[in-house]
Amino acid sequence: MERKKYVIIMAAGSGTRMGSELPKQFIELEGKPILQMTIETFVNACPDVTVITVLPEAHMSYWRSLCLNRNFTCPQILVKGGITRFHSVRNALAKVPDGAVVAVHDGVRPLVSLELIRNMFAEAEEVPALIPVVPCVDTMKVLEKKDDILVTVPGAHVDRSVLFGAQTPQIFHSEVIKDAYSLAYDTAFTDDASVVEKYGKNLSYVMGERFNIKITTQDDLLLARAILSLSSFS
Ligand code: C5P
Repeated sequence: MERKKYVIIMAAGSGTRMGSELPKQFIELEGKPILQMTIETFVNACPDVTVITVLPEAHMSYWRSLCLNRNFTCPQILVKGGITRFHSVRNALAKVPDGAVVAVHDGVRPLVSLELIRNMFAEAEEVPALIPVVPCVDTMKVLEKKDDILVTVPGAHVDRSVLFGAQTPQIFHSEVIKDAYSLAYDTAFTDDASVVEKYGKNLSYVMGERFNIKITTQDDLLLARAILSLSSFS
């Protein structure tokens, strides 16, 4: 029997790197808050998905009013975020039953395609943990700061051909990710895959998408607007 689908939309960050008063997930892109665009993309891809939105405590009533004012009526379970992304995910997982399949997606990645979401949900029925990755195109340097100046770390070489960037959505069998999140917090947990892998589960990978950017800085906003203006992008 097909597993019930959930998506946890991560939007409890404060967005300090954007340099704006308003956290980046609420900034408008093409007349719509980024967070609304991200949720709509998931619901368009999978109308039967249950949406869990994780928000900063200070912005929960702001988001409720924004949805009301914009007539954005998609049902959402609202969850309060935690001190780090790890703690925010853990809060949301409490709302997910065992035997489901759960996607965890950054609220600031609105440009993920419907195809990637649909294909990943289909494939995730068969594997416990599925992660989208993109090959690294830049040459990577291992550097450290000495007196505020960047210098090479001697002997550290990175072979670019084995480097990939991990994106979201990352999709898991719910009992696997819930068990994994019983681990104690570690600063190395920068995504969900790292938690599940530390717990001892194998990860499976699919190719991600170059345009599935995480809108983090003002430059990313410009890039997102440029991508959305492409006639080939819909
Ligand atoms: O900080 P980072 O760029 O890794 O954040 C990725 C996503 O996790 C963002 O969508 C952000 O809103 C979310 N986040 C969260 N709770 C936190 C920190 C970040 O939901 N405490």
